[in-house]
Amino acid sequence: MKFWKRIDVIDDIAIVRIPFEYDNTIYNYAEEIGKRSKVVAVWGRLPETERTFRTHTYVHLWGEKKSEVIYREYGVRFYLDFTKVFFSAKLKYEHFRVCSQVRKGEVIANLFAGAGFFSIHCASKGASVVYSVDINPYAYYYTRANMELNRTWNVIPILGDTFKVYGEMGEVDRVISPLPELYREAYEVSTKLTKRGGIIHLFAETSKPEELAQEFKASFYRIVRSSGPRKYHVILDIPR
Ligand SMILES: C[S@@+](CC[C@H](N)C(=O)[O-])C[C@H]1O[C@@H](n2cnc3c(N)ncnc32)[C@H](O)[C@@H]1O
Repeated sequence: MKFWKRIDVIDDIAIVRIPFEYDNTIYNYAEEIGKRSKVVAVWGRLPETERTFRTHTYVHLWGEKKSEVIYREYGVRFYLDFTKVFFSAKLKYEHFRVCSQVRKGEVIANLFAGAGFFSIHCASKGASVVYSVDINPYAYYYTRANMELNRTWNVIPILGDTFKVYGEMGEVDRVISPLPELYREAYEVSTKLTKRGGIIHLFAETSKPEELAQEFKASFYRIVRSSGPRKYHVILDIPR
């Protein structure tokens, strides 16, 4: 069956990728997964995402109706409800790669920050301040919880629309902008925020990664994932 192809186990919960169309047999499969493993719940993840918050639609399939997890990445713990905030384990390497570049004392703006993944990683790498902006109230709530969990008091969570509140931050050394769908608008804001000599990590959606990297004079680019037929999410490192 198609939905067997990918099962992610996060903490004590299994998440099964399911196609748009599914029937009741999926509940039997979920029960099978639950009984053969140590998970307490099995959820199904549909491909569609909510437009602004970028959250997927989930269906509860088996076990406890629990969707809060503690997810671990490179020694950092994140507490979140994957039905309420954006979550993708696929960004793990990018969190590590970008935040490994942070130098002591940097001021950073993490736009579109979700539950604070980049923010908390960068804060624990010695940044002096990390602004962490998201429009989803649950993202704000879990960022605050993750600051407590990881004792990263140098994160300043901001609940709001990046395009309206960016003026509250002042100039920064590094901008991290993970909203590929609105990358041109996000780049405009990022250039206003970044000091000369600073850097912008811009996520973008494109069918021509190399051409886009040239257009933005990126010092580095990488395909993060494919997002459709001949369409990719890429990250560009753009020096200012
Ligand atoms: C791709 S997700 C973020 C990924 C996250 N940085 C991570 O590493 O897991 C995009 C996020 O942008 C937020 N968002 C969308 N539009 C926004 C806006 N105009 N201002 C602030 N946040 C926004 C969504 O709520 C969502 O959490």
